[in-house]
Amino acid sequence: MTYKLEPSSDEIKQIMDLTTSRIVSFLDKIADPVEVDINQVRADAYHQAEALPEFETPFKEILDDLFDNKIPNSLQTAHPGFMAYIPGGGLFHSALAELIAKIANRYVGKDFTAPFLVQIEIDIIKWFCKLIGYSDASAGTLTSGGSIANLTAVICARTYCLGDDFSKGIVYASNYSHHSNWKAFQAAGIAAKNIRKIPVDDKFRLDVKCLKAQLQDDVNRGLTPLMIVATAGSTNTGTVDQLEEIALLSKQFSAWYHIDAAYGGFFTLVDSMKSRLKGIELADSITLDPHKGLFLPYGTGAIIVKDRKKLEQVFKHSADYIPEDNSDIDIWDFSGMSLELTRPFRGLGIWLPFKMLGADAFRNALSEKIQLANYFHTKLKENEAWKIIAEPELSITVFRYDDKKKTMQELNIINNKILNHVNAKFRVNISGTKVDGYFVLRNCILSFRTHIEQVDFLLEDLSEAMDSVVMELS
Ligand SMILES: Cc1ncc(COP(=O)(O)O)c(C=O)c1O
Repeated sequence: MTYKLEPSSDEIKQIMDLTTSRIVSFLDKIADPVEVDINQVRADAYHQAEALPEFETPFKEILDDLFDNKIPNSLQTAHPGFMAYIPGGGLFHSALAELIAKIANRYVGKDFTAPFLVQIEIDIIKWFCKLIGYSDASAGTLTSGGSIANLTAVICARTYCLGDDFSKGIVYASNYSHHSNWKAFQAAGIAAKNIRKIPVDDKFRLDVKCLKAQLQDDVNRGLTPLMIVATAGSTNTGTVDQLEEIALLSKQFSAWYHIDAAYGGFFTLVDSMKSRLKGIELADSITLDPHKGLFLPYGTGAIIVKDRKKLEQVFKHSADYIPEDNSDIDIWDFSGMSLELTRPFRGLGIWLPFKMLGADAFRNALSEKIQLANYFHTKLKENEAWKIIAEPELSITVFRYDDKKKTMQELNIINNKILNHVNAKFRVNISGTKVDGYFVLRNCILSFRTHIEQVDFLLEDLSEAMDSVVMELS
């Protein structure tokens, strides 16, 4: 008897061989420019919606379609020249771990089903806590990404600090904090009237003076400061907020202090960056995103909390169908520290690369990103036509073409054209954003595949784009 859902050993080997050869040739060509008209692809994809397949399709045919059509016709997020948004690259070793984890399909929500594997996740969270400077009292959990980590923090703060009645609890974040924080406030039931968007100062940091004034005003009106969110590496400009000053205010006003370090947190691996992120350890909770700063494939974030008891107080639940934990060993129960019960074994995707490569591989790669960002910034400054909007504090540089004789509107058109021109060469990809009404260019170096060659391509392509756009419009 054969069961279609259970392939034979030979079939598995065949499938794996075919897949391996496609993966190897995909990675061999990873640095090639791939020309994609994403608007056209969008329309094509929309028209290729598929009905539920009732019959078999040969695996090779499926693979060919994936690797020849569907995968290449997309934004090249794994390309070495990808410096748009927040790249990561997608480590091979982690992808491999994901395959192993999913084949074994072990359950890591509770330790009694797979103690060694749960211990791997506990170790990982402890590595992260130590890296940040938390004590042994800390804990946390792996999430699907930074958004869910931020949501977990808001729910934890809300319930731990105010219980059921949080109608007077006020939350604070800067207008440069990631929009997942605003989503999290909303999803956690914080009323719009209780959400304070604090402006940033001239360095794009949460304006501490404004925050203090707002906190005082709220207290004077009988409201309760519930949570302050600072950002350690903003998405827009890569700016790190004044973490220590904000910690003092959180303490003074008894508010939960959360730091969204989804982008910047893992730079603490690099000794020279520790001072830039000083004060991060003062937070009650921290969001980290291994699929950013540890270069993992998408799907792994983390929330760590200074005091494990607080996390457990909010998320621990029991049920008749789940065995009680009567063990003397103080083992962590991840299902009692997060919103999820059944979830993927995300830890293996972090553990395997660290085991195979060692922590230095990550430290060195992050150091390289910082050096590349500084190199890019230094080179860009050599041409005065480029105005630096935000210097790289970590690995993001924000800049634009400037000409004092031109209006903001004209400059926005020029910079938009420069961006399109650069990206149309398909050697590198950067993104744009808005700062003070200006359309600006933004380069985020965070893929393990990005090296000096790609930064030089970017410098060349920018210079050429600027000449050609300025000439076209003059
Ligand atoms: C600072 C910051 N926080 C949170 C997030 C959201 O993380 P994710 O996309 O992993 O959900 C991002 C994403 O770019 C981010 O840059």
